[in-house]
Amino acid sequence: MNGNNATPLVTCRDVVKTYGSGNAEVHALRGVDLDVYPGELTMLVGPSGCGKTTLLSVVAGILRPTAGSVSVLRTDLTHLSSWRRTAFRRDHVGFVFQQFNLLPALTAAENAAVPLVIQGRSRRTALARSKELLDQMGMADRVSSLPGKLSGGQQQRVAIARALIHHPHLLVCDEPTSALDAKTGHTILELLRSIAVEGDRAVMIVTHDSRIFEFADTLARMDDGHIVSVERKNGRDKHEIDNQAIAS
Ligand SMILES: Nc1ncnc2c1ncn2[C@@H]1O[C@H](COP(=O)(O)OP(=O)(O)OP(=O)(O)O)[C@@H](O)[C@H]1O
Ligand SMILES: [Mg+2]
Repeated sequence: MNGNNATPLVTCRDVVKTYGSGNAEVHALRGVDLDVYPGELTMLVGPSGCGKTTLLSVVAGILRPTAGSVSVLRTDLTHLSSWRRTAFRRDHVGFVFQQFNLLPALTAAENAAVPLVIQGRSRRTALARSKELLDQMGMADRVSSLPGKLSGGQQQRVAIARALIHHPHLLVCDEPTSALDAKTGHTILELLRSIAVEGDRAVMIVTHDSRIFEFADTLARMDDGHIVSVERKNGRDKHEIDNQAIAS
C-alpha cells in the first residue's frame, strides 16, 4: 500500500514530553510530528536515550504528553480521561516487548489467550482462537508448553500471538528482536510482516537493530527528542513471505 494515499492511523503533532521538573527536567520529546499509516510497518530508530520508547508510549496511550496532540483512529488521546485511555488501549492496541513477559505458570496457548479472557470471552473460545493463531505462527506443536520450555524466538511468537489475538488496530513493539540472535530476530520480523501488517492495522517497531531496518515501509530516524528524517520505502513486496515457509 502507498501510505501517501491513505489516512494516517496515528497522527502526532508537535508532541512534547518532559520528565521531572526544575533541575531534574529531561526533554525526552521536543516537538515531534509523525504520521503512521495502516497496512504499513513503521520503524523508529535512533541512538539510546533519543526518545523512542517515550514516543511509542505516548502513541500507545501509556504516557500522556506534556504538550501537543496524539490521535489514534481519529481519537485524540490527549483529551481522554485516564480511564478511557486504558479502555482504548485494551481495545485497540497490542504490545510486544524485548522481554516477552509471559506468565510462567500458563501454557503458550493460555498466555496468548489472556487478552480475550480479560475482554470477557469464554475460556474455551479464547483458547480455540489462541491455538489457531499459534498454529498460523508455526507453533502448533508447542501450544501446551510452558514458557520455560520454549526458546526465546518461540516465546516471542507467543507474545506476538497474545498481542494480536484481539485484532488491535495498532501494534507497538519495543526492541522485539534485541533479546534474540540475528537469525531468530530475522524470522520474527518476517512473521510480524506476514501476520501483523494488515490493511487496517499499523505496526510500529522501535529498534536499535540495523539488521532489521530492511523490513520497514517507513523508517523514522530520531535524535535528541526530534524526528530528524522520515524515509518512505517502496517495493515492500520483496519482503512478503509465504506463511508456509515460517511454519516449516
Ligand atoms: N520515567 C522517566 N523519568 C525520567 N526520565 C526518563 C524517564 N523515562 C525516560 N527518561 C529519559 O528520557 C529520555 C528518553 O528516554 P527513552 O527511554 O524514550 O529513550 P530510548 O530512545 O527509548 O532509549 P533506548 O534506546 O536506550 O531504549 C532519556 O534521557 C531517558 O533517560
Ligand atoms: Mg527504549
